[in-house]
Amino acid sequence: MTLALRRARADDAEAIADLCSRAARLAYAPLVTPDYLARVIAHFYGADRVRREIPVSPGWFGFVVATDAAAVVGVAGTGRSAQRHEACELFALYVAPAAQRRGVGRALVAHAAEEASGSGAWHLDVAVMPGNLPALRFYEACGFTFAGERAIYAPHGQEGGPASALVYTKALVPSSGGQGRLSG
Ligand SMILES: CC(C)(COP(=O)(O)OP(=O)(O)OC[C@H]1O[C@@H](n2cnc3c(N)ncnc32)[C@H](O)[C@@H]1OP(=O)(O)O)[C@@H](O)C(=O)NCCC(=O)NCCS
Repeated sequence: MTLALRRARADDAEAIADLCSRAARLAYAPLVTPDYLARVIAHFYGADRVRREIPVSPGWFGFVVATDAAAVVGVAGTGRSAQRHEACELFALYVAPAAQRRGVGRALVAHAAEEASGSGAWHLDVAVMPGNLPALRFYEACGFTFAGERAIYAPHGQEGGPASALVYTKALVPSSGGQGRLSG
């Protein structure tokens, strides 16, 4: 694998939407009802929504893609946390099923942590669906620790899915000394 990371472009939208949909199906099918899963994918991973979210905006650092020989094999989306002021959050992290366990997720998390610390954050948080054991093991391997539970963000409707998410967090050293862009 020739792994490279770059900021997503508008013409990546279809590939990102397809990758997220496939990886989400694999990860969440054992944990939620088929209807819930279909609603999650329709709400978050349509190409139109992904295309709208590719540009950086206040509090949203945009998507970063991992590529292997020009093919998109992973994606991460990071921004400021809506829950706590000094934290950023990894809002999306998906690796194509065929590319998993080859270090792609770890590279995307390392990049997200750099983006977060560069923005002045002291923590990088992520909300994980209860029962998503591969993701929990992954975040632990990347230095995250359990920080509690919170109501799951489910604008697609909560029926057929869990009521709460597990919050994991990774401590950062803000490269702006904690006085940077996050405090503005
Ligand atoms: C979770 C996910 C992003 C991990 O990405 P990945 O590229 O496969 O992970 P990496 O290869 O970088 O793994 C790094 C380490 O995490 C741990 N890890 C990763 N996947 C694991 C699994 N299925 N079971 C146990 N440990 C795992 C291992 O310690 C691994 O190191 P190793 O392969 O040297 O043993 C990927 O499996 C995925 O996209 N899952 C579906 C979507 C999802 O659940 N996203 C998270 C939403 S919160």
